[in-house]
Amino acid sequence: MKDKITALLAEIDSLTASLQDEVEALRIKYLSKKGVIPTLMDDFRNVPADQKREMGMLINQLKQKAQDKIQILKEQFENNTSSISDIDLSRTAYPIKLGTRHPISLVKEEICDIFKRLGFSIAEGPEVEDDWHVFSSLNFAEDHPARDMQDTFFIQSNPDIVLRTHTSSVQTRVMENTQPPIRIICPGRVYRNEAISYRAHCFFHQVEALYVDINVSFADLKQALLFFAKEMFGENTKIRLRPSYFPFTEPSAEMDISCNICGGKGCPFCKHTGWVEILGCGMVDPNVLENCGIDSTIYSGYALGMGIERITNLKYQVKDLRMFSENDVRFLEEFKSAY
Ligand code: DAH
Repeated sequence: MKDKITALLAEIDSLTASLQDEVEALRIKYLSKKGVIPTLMDDFRNVPADQKREMGMLINQLKQKAQDKIQILKEQFENNTSSISDIDLSRTAYPIKLGTRHPISLVKEEICDIFKRLGFSIAEGPEVEDDWHVFSSLNFAEDHPARDMQDTFFIQSNPDIVLRTHTSSVQTRVMENTQPPIRIICPGRVYRNEAISYRAHCFFHQVEALYVDINVSFADLKQALLFFAKEMFGENTKIRLRPSYFPFTEPSAEMDISCNICGGKGCPFCKHTGWVEILGCGMVDPNVLENCGIDSTIYSGYALGMGIERITNLKYQVKDLRMFSENDVRFLEEFKSAY
């Protein structure tokens, strides 16, 4: 019996378990009613009287050792959710991948920040709009050819509801609800039924600005445009205004800036003219003010609108518009250092 106990003591010493269930199996094997140790205790009856004292002590020692060992193995699992052997502590940590801000968001923020410095605040409106806010209030007559300039997506069940073709619709929404002075900047997504190519998309982004107050003049517009161009493209940027037509402004103009890629010398981007068009603008047509409940005999205003993709192209020379909506991480990561 003594040999058996000595062997068992060594055996218990070397017990290990890599799963919690294994500890329970060991407890059953050694300590349950019919386990190895209680069976040994039953055999104690047959030990000769002169050895009883020594054997008794050894068996008690064995039992204690088994209980302690099983307790230790149990605790190993209580402190860890996974087994130590599952974790490779020498493995390098996963790098945390930081996302990047989208170039359109970056440029949108930059444009808004510049106008905020001139006292403008942000206004937003819905992308699904009614005809009144997108066209009629802005002086587009029912059969006005200007409606054709903006190939519109209509909501099938209701020809009065459209996906807005420009953010000028937000002008109306604000003017209907606020009396001057009004100084707002409206960034947002717009939709047009265009064939998708490297230079056109069926959705893109615009920023609209509107200033209405007493005595707002074309000179105020020009100053704001020059300030914007220099802040956005650098102190040496020049602007020029060409007469144009929009139903909601009179007079209307388009603004070119000196090509910031070649510095005005002429390159493929500016088609060797030295100038690139970046926005439309003008004095708010008195009809538009009246349509929105603003007295055009007291107030006047200017408005301007620009495509964010175009400004982004000029800033970062993105050759294909489709890249902005493809979400190719390699493209987006190029803007990591831009903020
Ligand atoms: N809404 C015009 C467009 O989508 C841009 C525009 C032109 C906005 C002139 C204006 C403006 O406010 O005065 O092409």
